[in-house]
Amino acid sequence: MILSESDLERWGQAVGREIDAPAFLALRGTLGAGKSVLARAIARGAGVEGHLPSPTFNVLFRYPSERGFTVAHLDLYRLSDPDEVWELGWEEVGGEGEVALVEWPERAGTLLPDDRWDIGLRAVRGRPELREVHLVRVGDPPELPAFPLRIEVDG
Ligand SMILES: Nc1ncnc2c1ncn2[C@@H]1O[C@H](COP(=O)(O)OP(=O)(O)OP(=O)(O)O)[C@@H](O)[C@H]1O
Ligand SMILES: [Mg+2]
Repeated sequence: MILSESDLERWGQAVGREIDAPAFLALRGTLGAGKSVLARAIARGAGVEGHLPSPTFNVLFRYPSERGFTVAHLDLYRLSDPDEVWELGWEEVGGEGEVALVEWPERAGTLLPDDRWDIGLRAVRGRPELREVHLVRVGDPPELPAFPLRIEVDG
């Protein structure tokens, strides 16, 4: 699926409105792929209010949502291995009553939960305003809403 930023945000907000906790969403993609854009949209959709800073330096932010679950937004980029990931309280992340949105999930290695969505974001050559979005169901995660619309791109 290829989405503009506003369509990605629209889908992310639908995810936040509809997803059931607990849930673990691994947000994959290189620097600038749109992982934080998507994470913020999901948090907004769940009714998280206020400023949503990037967790690049703080690694983990946890917000209460209007829907009653907490939203944990993590960016593991600066961590070097699963031991460091474990030390930040990993056991609780995406646990009971929490929706976890995790950027750079590859840093967690085998600590990633068995039930999750892997959401990949990738640049589209020659179209800097678009991203290719891949959804991979791993194990038995809660359902996600369908994408809002499909954009056809030539070439
Ligand atoms: N279709 C799109 N979807 C998402 N972001 C887009 C899209 N088109 C352009 N962008 C831009 O790409 C950038 C994505 O930045 P973002 O911080 O979300 O990346 P990131 O994947 O979180 O990177 P990092 O690994 O550094 O945390 C933003 O500046 C956004 O405006
Ligand atoms: Mg980011």
